[in-house]
Amino acid sequence: MEKFVINGGNALKGTVKISGAKNAAVAILPAVLLSDSPCTVENLPEISDVSTILKSMSALGADIKAINKSSVVIDPRPVKSYVVTKEMAEGMRASSYFLGALLGRTHHARVAPPGGCDFGVRPIDQHIKGFEALGAKVIIESGMVDAKAKALYGSSVYLDKVSVGATINIMLAAVKAKGLTVIENAAREPHIVDLANFLNSMGANIMGAGTGVIKIRGVENLHGTVYSIIPDQIEAGTYMVAAAATGGDVLVENVTPKHLESIIAKLVEAGATVNEYDEAIRVSMKKPPKKCNIQTMPHPGFPTDMQPQIATFLAIAEGTSIITEGVWDNRFRYVDQLTLMGADIQVDGKMAVITGVKGLKGAPVKAVDLRAGAAMVIAGLMASGITEITEIDHIDRGYERLTEKLSALGAQIKRVVVPKPSSNLKQA
Ligand code: UD1
Repeated sequence: MEKFVINGGNALKGTVKISGAKNAAVAILPAVLLSDSPCTVENLPEISDVSTILKSMSALGADIKAINKSSVVIDPRPVKSYVVTKEMAEGMRASSYFLGALLGRTHHARVAPPGGCDFGVRPIDQHIKGFEALGAKVIIESGMVDAKAKALYGSSVYLDKVSVGATINIMLAAVKAKGLTVIENAAREPHIVDLANFLNSMGANIMGAGTGVIKIRGVENLHGTVYSIIPDQIEAGTYMVAAAATGGDVLVENVTPKHLESIIAKLVEAGATVNEYDEAIRVSMKKPPKKCNIQTMPHPGFPTDMQPQIATFLAIAEGTSIITEGVWDNRFRYVDQLTLMGADIQVDGKMAVITGVKGLKGAPVKAVDLRAGAAMVIAGLMASGITEITEIDHIDRGYERLTEKLSALGAQIKRVVVPKPSSNLKQA
């Protein structure tokens, strides 16, 4: 077990380079299974969610060779299995993408139900609705989701709720189905566009990704490709908020500014100075933030995956801010941890009322999920004194070389091994 130890109070200054997008990588890698020849995927982030997906693909039979730290060549031809067990998926949410990818590949997939961060019920009814519309029979038995079809036929699917996961899974299943599939009320996140671009580079015929209506004309075969994943919007947003929250001045490089508009808008509203360049954004802040109200929404709204980080920043704002969570039922579990550091936040259902305090104080806290963990890191950087963050395996799922990147910006943060409790203590 490891923990982060942060000696807070330093303003972040310098340049940070953003890695490839986690949420694009975890969709694009399973999509390789649809190809009839090897694919090269570049700009993969070095994070545990990517290694888990690669391990699962290798267990399925794919031949994977690393070219360097961020690129792999994957030959999906040896894959014979259609089963992804709970052990292979290691509790990852994105394991559900094997359902769409394997269903599209061999018309049969058997996958353990997805895990991932715990922020309330995470249903997959819209994924199933899409598979069924394409002609698959989906049953849940012995703790596995089993989707099977003789053949898949294009169809119209209206999503009752805008869902990133369902949009991706239906795209994966439909890309080689016979005829035209139309996904209405589709999610519009940048990683959905990235997946469509990847599949199109393999010979797919997908139109409208990035809008609410995606049209997929099925093709017989998909071929190998060389593809580079987009920069991670949420990693970029996290460093932008960390820069502002510490009163720093940071150039965030290798980003797509268009993907960051909602985050930029809120930072500017809170008083930060934000300069946009072609592939970089500079964020600086000299005064305490001003209060600001935020509602999270599907893209292009403010991303729910930035909610804990921005709430932490607003914990020291002048005045009272209100954050409304518009995507998940229970995404404020981290608030108890922030309160331990002196924040004044009241949660009522899907709303948090944040009364700004002068400053945060270092304390032992834990990362309750991935983005909540990133928020604890920001809190530790803002706080006076020492903050120790445990359960950082959540953070390692989504942030590449976090301590190195932050140290280069002047943060005092280190990763420390936590000794296992001795057997005597265990018995006590
Ligand atoms: C993805 C992201 C996650 C992000 C979330 C919202 C990946 C790997 N994960 O998660 O980081 O927090 O989008 O931007 O890309 N819903 C249903 N039925 C379904 C599916 C979803 O009701 O079948 C609901 C969910 O309960 C939730 C909302 O739709 O309220 C959004 O979920 P969804 O976009 O599917 O999230 P994920 O794909 O799991």
